[in-house]
Amino acid sequence: MPARKSSQTIGSFCCKCICWTVGLLVLLLGIVGATAGILYLVFKPEIPNYSVDSLTISDLRLNFDMTLYAKFDVKITANNPNKKIGIYYEKGGRLSVWYTKTKLCQGSIPKFYQGHQNITKLDVSLTGQTQYGSTLMRTLQEQQQTGRIPLDLKIDAPVSIKLGRLKLRKLRILGNCLLVVNSLSTNNLISIKASNCKFRLKL
Ligand SMILES: *[C@@H]1O[C@H](CO)[C@@H](O)[C@H](O)[C@H]1NC(C)=O
Repeated sequence: MPARKSSQTIGSFCCKCICWTVGLLVLLLGIVGATAGILYLVFKPEIPNYSVDSLTISDLRLNFDMTLYAKFDVKITANNPNKKIGIYYEKGGRLSVWYTKTKLCQGSIPKFYQGHQNITKLDVSLTGQTQYGSTLMRTLQEQQQTGRIPLDLKIDAPVSIKLGRLKLRKLRILGNCLLVVNSLSTNNLISIKASNCKFRLKL
């Protein structure tokens, strides 16, 4: 009998212990959730968005070593729709243009602070040198006959977020725009027939 009694006490002690732990965890989760919810409601965060205004190809040629040299100029508009969140674009932001799986060129996004509900136009110059240029050039020229050349514009921007007075740690804004352009002729403004952009945040 005494043995049974003591096992009962241990049992109820364990149960209490588990109950407390679970209760505490639920409470903690509740507090974290509520804090996140309140922050969300107060700051109403929205992912910034970008649009591609123009694309100019200043150079696209085969070098003697059969690499393809590309120099593009891209004008984009960066929109921070947030009323209470500022965005620091940090060093290392990149913009790159891809044709299928090949990177044609890349350039740097300038370091700057974008305030609340600010729209900033950026002018980015992209350069690049790609191997197997002759095959690539031929493919591009063939594609040009159709008048629809699909290009991918990728955005990779490390940013810090400013909430009120608080500057938070770095996040990354990753974006991908599918552009369909009509030609690759140099020094002309190229008409962008379609552009479809998607953005996400990476913590
Ligand atoms: C947006 O921010 C940029 C850079 O800080 C600034 O030069 C520009 O005047 C701002 N534009 C507006 C509309 O507030």
